[in-house]
Amino acid sequence: MSNPFFICRGNIIYAGDRNRLTVHEDSYLVVKDGIVEGIYPVLPEQYASLEVKDYGRGLIIPAFTDLHVHAPQYVQRGIGMDVLLSDWLNQYTFPQEARFADMEYAKNVYDAFVDDLIRQGTFHAAIFATIHREATDYLFARLEEKGLYAFVGKVNMDVHSPDCLCETTEESLRETRRYLESHTSCTTVKPILTPRFAPTCSRELMHGLGKLSREFHCGLHTHLVESKWEAAEALRLFPECRSDAEIYEQAGLLENGPSIFAHVIFPSEEDVRILKKYHGVSVHCPDATTNIIAGIMPTAALQDQDLAIALGSDVGGGHQLAIYRQVSRAVQMSKLKGFYEPENNHAVSFAHAFYLATKAGGSVFGNVGSLEKGYRFNALVIESMEDKGLTLSPEERLERFCYTGDDRNIVARYLSGAAVE
Ligand code: GUN
Ligand code: FE
Repeated sequence: MSNPFFICRGNIIYAGDRNRLTVHEDSYLVVKDGIVEGIYPVLPEQYASLEVKDYGRGLIIPAFTDLHVHAPQYVQRGIGMDVLLSDWLNQYTFPQEARFADMEYAKNVYDAFVDDLIRQGTFHAAIFATIHREATDYLFARLEEKGLYAFVGKVNMDVHSPDCLCETTEESLRETRRYLESHTSCTTVKPILTPRFAPTCSRELMHGLGKLSREFHCGLHTHLVESKWEAAEALRLFPECRSDAEIYEQAGLLENGPSIFAHVIFPSEEDVRILKKYHGVSVHCPDATTNIIAGIMPTAALQDQDLAIALGSDVGGGHQLAIYRQVSRAVQMSKLKGFYEPENNHAVSFAHAFYLATKAGGSVFGNVGSLEKGYRFNALVIESMEDKGLTLSPEERLERFCYTGDDRNIVARYLSGAAVE
C-alpha cells in the first residue's frame, strides 16, 4: 500500500478567520490521505521515520480561490480597458465570446486558461464559460482532469444580446438541461446555473432556470448590482421586483446551492436582506471594478452586516488571473473608498483580504482554503521573498508576495496532498 502520509516543514500561514493570520514558524505540517492532520513545532515521535520535505524559510500557504472569473475572456485580458461596462461588453466581449462556437478556438483558450490558473496557484474557482454547451463541456473536463475545484456555468442569454451570442429561450433551457444531465456524477468540478445578468435574460428564462435549479439541486452564479446602469436596467426589465436580487429569488434560483454574486457594488437594503437570507456570497473583484465598472464594493460594510464575501479576478474585466494581487488591491481599494466616503468604515486589513482569497471563497467547495486540521492540503509554497542579508517576518513576506510577487515565486504546488508537476 502506498504511504498515506506527506510531511513538510517551513513557515506555515493561513487565515482561520478574517481578523488574523495564524503563523507557525519553522513547523511541521502532516498530511494524511490528502487532508491536514496537524501542525507541530517538533515532529511527533510517531512520524520520526517518515521523510520530511524541508522548505527552509519558504512560506506554506493555502491555495487561492477565485470566485468570479470568465474563462473565455482569458484572451482579452488587458484589452479594451478604457471603456465602461456596456461598451466593453458590446465592443470587445460579446464578439470575442461568440468565437466559442468554434471548438478549436475554445480548446486553445481553455487549455491556456487552465494552465495559468494552476501556475497562479488558484485551485478553486467559480467560472463563467459562454452560451456554447460543447465548449463548456470541454472546459469542465479539462478542470476535472487536473483535479481542480470548480463550479462551471454554461452562460444563458436570450434577450438584448447580439445575434452571434443570443439563444432562444427554449434553446437556452434545453442546452442547460443537457449540460446538467451530463454532469450529475462529478467529483471536484460541478455545474452551476449562470444567467449572465438580468439585462440579458428574459423572465421566462429566469423562471425556467429556477425549475432546473430545483430539479438538479444546482446553485447560481451571476452579476449583481455591478453598476448604476446595470442596477437600473434590471429594475426596468423586471418592474415587479424591488431589487436585482429579488429577480433571482422570485425565479426560485437561490434555494438549491451556493448563490455567488459578482461585484455587489450598489446593493439596496432589499438586496442585502435577500443575500443574507440565502447566504449568498458577494464577490469583490477590485481590478474589474476599476477597469470597467468604476465603483468599489462596500466590503467592510457588507461584512459588518454578516454577509459572506470572497475575491474574484473577473478576467477579462480584471486584467490578470493572480488572486494574490486582488488581495493587495482589495486593501488599496478600501483605502480609496475610505478617503472618499469617510463616514463609513471601509477598512480591509491585509489579513482580512487574505482570508477572503482563501478560506472565505474556499468555503463554497467544502474544507479547502485553510491549513487547519481537517482541511484538504491544497497548498502553495512561496519562496522567502527576503532581500539579501535582510530578514522579514512570515507575515511581512506573505504581504510582500501579494503586492510584488508573481508565479515565479511559487516554488511548489500541492493538490490533495500530491505535488502538481
Ligand atoms: N456583466 C455582464 N457580463 C459581464 C462580464 O462579462 N463581465 C463583467 N465584469 N460584468 C458583466
Ligand atoms: Fe464578470
